[in-house]
Amino acid sequence: MRDLVDAIRPLLNSVMSDIGVQESDWDNLLASSTDSAFADVAMPCHSLSKVLRKAPNTISDEILESLGSTTEGLCQVSSINGFLNFSADSDWLSDLLQEALIDDRLRVLTEESRVIVIDYSSPNVAKHMHVGHLRSTVIGDALNRMLTHKGHRVVPENHIGDWGTPFGMLIEHLIDMGIDSDSQNIDLSTFYSDARAKFDSDSEFSSRSRARVVRMQSSEPETIELWQMLVDRSLIHFNEVYQRMGVLLTNDDLAGESKYESVLPRIVDKLAERGLLEESDGAKVVYLDGWKNREGEPLPLIIQKADGGYNYATSDLACILDRIENVGSRDLLYIVGAEQAQHFAMVFEVARSAGFMDEGVNAIHVPFGLVMGTDGKKLASRTGGAVHLNDLLIEAVERADAIVAEKNPLLSNKERAEVAKMLGIGAIKYADLSTDRSNNYTFQWEKMLSFDGNTAPYLQYAHARICSIFSKDGIDRDSTLDAEIILVHEREIALARALIGYPEALDSACSSHSPHKLATQLHVIAQAFGSFYEVCPVLNAEDKTKISRLALCDLTARTLQTGLELLGIDSPQRM
Ligand code: ARG
Repeated sequence: MRDLVDAIRPLLNSVMSDIGVQESDWDNLLASSTDSAFADVAMPCHSLSKVLRKAPNTISDEILESLGSTTEGLCQVSSINGFLNFSADSDWLSDLLQEALIDDRLRVLTEESRVIVIDYSSPNVAKHMHVGHLRSTVIGDALNRMLTHKGHRVVPENHIGDWGTPFGMLIEHLIDMGIDSDSQNIDLSTFYSDARAKFDSDSEFSSRSRARVVRMQSSEPETIELWQMLVDRSLIHFNEVYQRMGVLLTNDDLAGESKYESVLPRIVDKLAERGLLEESDGAKVVYLDGWKNREGEPLPLIIQKADGGYNYATSDLACILDRIENVGSRDLLYIVGAEQAQHFAMVFEVARSAGFMDEGVNAIHVPFGLVMGTDGKKLASRTGGAVHLNDLLIEAVERADAIVAEKNPLLSNKERAEVAKMLGIGAIKYADLSTDRSNNYTFQWEKMLSFDGNTAPYLQYAHARICSIFSKDGIDRDSTLDAEIILVHEREIALARALIGYPEALDSACSSHSPHKLATQLHVIAQAFGSFYEVCPVLNAEDKTKISRLALCDLTARTLQTGLELLGIDSPQRM
């Protein structure tokens, strides 16, 4: 409990200097407790033994005694086995909640604003978006919302794969299919694989494709027009998926590989000027200290291939320069799967050696694990191919619709459809965001759509339940703003503790780029609310208690709704 640590520190300050311990010796001992049932904040005194030449429990006893009554109204303190344990007082908790109650930001502070580029989603043109893009899109979008809420200027960049050698075969395939046919009719589900199959089996087609790459690289207008058709068709698809998912990305955020094409020669020159480029089988490469391939040979980062073509890494170098020089950012986040860790580590290292980024620039690869099927393998369609993201989203809403119809038959068709969308899409997003991103997770419909457990429907239901408490009695939500919060029942106090943890959880989710830290706290809040509501009557309580409990309910609903919104998830009023 960060707020309590902050409140205790000045009190300890004077006690510790009295007993002759320097701040640097105790300052980082004081921390939120890992077991909140036991204490909110704890300080182990064992390391002070050496300084004071006393047993740890003697030291903690002495500190306790010196603290005396100074912690009154703030916390209870005890000394056990050399530990000082601090437990927040209910009065102090209610003061903080009182602050939150009249604060639109629910005690979340803004930070000094930075320009943060978040590279996310980044699918490839001429292909369907598949489940692999789910994580980048969902995590990136949550970070976009959370960091914006903390006061930063987030610049989302969708680095789509819209350039490079595969476009030779894709354009030739487009010509074979009949270019004058409406590009709307291009079937992206098989377009890429059909082109690839022809390329691998038909030598006439593959040599045409190679020639087409050269024409594309020299910006031949006719070729660029065909390329544009493929890009436009793909954007229609991407935007359809984004809209269905409710993510913030629009065409304004596009910063695909093609955007950097014209500056790639300059990147090569800059690397050459720095003396970083070497020749390897006709290709221009950079060798970095310490990078070895599986055979233990030096592993180069390829900048320009022998045929003059550039690489994925080269566009990423150009991208870094653009984000620093033109966008004006010094914080670059890349929400990309863990399998590209080596790519980013090498690209960042080259960018530093080449002087593209100085020490003050934070370029961070934010990796994530895989989406697994229930068979324990990477999630795949029945035919073994990648699962189309769009199909997954449609199925989620259909499944949610059936669940909502069963749970609440009284909803109108229109309302049920709206709720189903919030639930279905919310369930998919939350299943992703509630797991530590560095782990794999298993995609399970029943689990993610369940009204029990750490799921979106569980949190959404807690929120909707609170909304119904107010609507049932026709109570205005704002009427609680001047309520006095009185915490008496242990479950009221537990709910208060959970709510107090919200700003801290959001901050740590932001600083570690880990949305699950926010999700976990929201789940703790929803659970604490469930336990509270089980035994603490609200509408039937006595005057003062009723007002106080309504205020607790209102704060809980606002925190859940705001927190879910920061994860990109809607909260229906009824469900
Ligand atoms: N298009 C790439 C892929 O699908 C991801 C791009 C990620 N961003 C980047 N700046 N490299 O693998």
